[in-house]
Amino acid sequence: MLQRPRRNRKSEVIRQMVQETHVSAANLIFPLFIIEGIAQKTEVASMPGIFRYSIDNLLREIESCLKLGLNSFDLFPNIDESLKDKYATESHREQSLYLRAIREVKKNFPEACVITDVAMDPYSSDGHDGIVENGEILNDETLEVLGKMALAHAQCGADIIAPSDMMDGRVGYIRRVLDENKFTNVSIMSYSAKYASAFYGPFRDALNSAPKFGDKKTYQMNPANQREALIEANLDELEGADFLMVKPALPYLDIIKLIKDHTELPVAAYNVSGEYAMIKAAIQKGWLNEQRAITEVLTSIRRAGASAILTYHAKEVLENKWL
Ligand code: PBG
Repeated sequence: MLQRPRRNRKSEVIRQMVQETHVSAANLIFPLFIIEGIAQKTEVASMPGIFRYSIDNLLREIESCLKLGLNSFDLFPNIDESLKDKYATESHREQSLYLRAIREVKKNFPEACVITDVAMDPYSSDGHDGIVENGEILNDETLEVLGKMALAHAQCGADIIAPSDMMDGRVGYIRRVLDENKFTNVSIMSYSAKYASAFYGPFRDALNSAPKFGDKKTYQMNPANQREALIEANLDELEGADFLMVKPALPYLDIIKLIKDHTELPVAAYNVSGEYAMIKAAIQKGWLNEQRAITEVLTSIRRAGASAILTYHAKEVLENKWL
């Protein structure tokens, strides 16, 4: 045998020398849940180790992440039911929990990269990502709300706006609103290929944001489709997106790779709540080795082509020095 591939695996030093993919703190984005109040920190039942923080505790959490070299955060609000309405007006109210949180984080940690979520669902009394009329999700009317939300986030200091709603034309609409208001430097990370997935359950528990009726299949993509992801990615690129995101990550590694091969833009992937819950549940039962399972997951998402990974594992992998 002239070729014996095992020779390149014979020692740790050689294995590391030929390693093709690495995950570092710079690739990680940590999603954080926010709740109203002071000194609050409540664990999400289906996401062991993940908490909803009141703003004071959020600042403490971010400070401890920054010390670990974890510098990027994606914020999500848990909104009191009494503040929700059909038009998600709470999403662009000056003194809303979310806007206060963005301002506080940027005031205290100007160097942190704050990514903000643009979608109606946490603020919608219908629990949908768009305005609902007679059981239908209205696209163009929803864009106006998204535009107001994105502008409010930019005014509070958001570095990157991340629309997660899947309405048609929203990237272009938001880009225009930002530019017209002189926020030409605020980036857009678009949830380009966001699938109607079963893996968002724990996130909806965390935010109490599950749809009150029906499902999200008229706007989120069919898990069976690949080519449709390219249509969405191409449109977002033409409309001015700076990053294209695929969500979820693990069951959609083929989509990450496909989009990566068709764009020059950086690709992001969201290792979602259900993926986290699945791994943690198996670890709690003693069925998986925690360090090995988690680093393998993150490495595989990077290998598929993601530059950035939104993951609930972000802090623990750095705290435990697993990378
Ligand atoms: C909704 C949104 C969802 C997630 C992020 N933004 C879920 C949904 O579509 O209901 C899911 C993230 C996760 O599961 O970790 N705009």
